[in-house]
Amino acid sequence: MLGAVGGPKWDNQEQEKKPENGLMQLRETLGLYTNLRPAKIYPSLIDVSSLKPEVIKGVDIMVVRELTGGIYFGTPRGINENEGWNTLRYTRNEVERIAKSAFEIARLRDNRVTSVHKSNVLESSQFWKNIIKSVHLDYSDVQLNEMYVDNAAMQLVSNPKQFDVIITQNMFGDILSDITGMLTGSLGMLPSASIGEKYALYEPVHGTAPEISGQNIANPIAMIASVAMMLEITCKLPLAAKFINNAIEEILNEGYRTTEVALPSDFILSTTELTEKIINFLNKDII
Ligand code: IPM
Ligand code: MG
Repeated sequence: MLGAVGGPKWDNQEQEKKPENGLMQLRETLGLYTNLRPAKIYPSLIDVSSLKPEVIKGVDIMVVRELTGGIYFGTPRGINENEGWNTLRYTRNEVERIAKSAFEIARLRDNRVTSVHKSNVLESSQFWKNIIKSVHLDYSDVQLNEMYVDNAAMQLVSNPKQFDVIITQNMFGDILSDITGMLTGSLGMLPSASIGEKYALYEPVHGTAPEISGQNIANPIAMIASVAMMLEITCKLPLAAKFINNAIEEILNEGYRTTEVALPSDFILSTTELTEKIINFLNKDII
């Protein structure tokens, strides 16, 4: 389990000394190449989203983001007074393994994958597209669609229901998963899993939110739902995960919220109070 890292305090540090760099190294060293970012609408929060209820009702998307390659890790990279530069490169192995993850996940869901790239401009994306297509030959029961990333960003806010699994490279996944996150009303609700051959790491999608730090108002649900993902994927305890997800949903149904997702008729709770509500529900539910 990992909490969010980063903050304005470190903004002016060299890249290597920023906390985000620690996160990058963890992802790379542990080989966590498959990043899963589910975005499912809690029915009781439909009115909190900035999009119209009829647009988001029933949305259930899984973003499969490649997490240990692409422009985040490519070399050469650097900065001097006159230039800043990064490298976007993908190898066959990197794309093949993430493609397999996405197709396997699609089989457990609605069997549809959208491969998001920018193959009209970038060779690395043309390569990505070709490899995904060749892996797809082994998964012909899964439906595969192609979409340019700019169009995907637009489609996500105009007709998000069309998506089941979205597979995309590291940086596009970073950006698109903030959009899918916001469809649900708050980034504070979303868990994530980063999975490799040997290790897995679970963390909320949201960042450190320095503007509300120390006030006991942050939404604990993303972290609690990340524990549920851990129980399901690493511990192979799907029932335990279901209990937790059910507790979250029930507490939301009863109108308990942290402030950023609260409507006037809701009960606003602090981080610790909402956490306690969920734990108490769980205790009752299990006994
Ligand atoms: C995320 C975050 C990180 C990323 C930051 C904190 C380095 O935005 O996990 O989406 O860009 O991957
Ligand atoms: Mg991000």
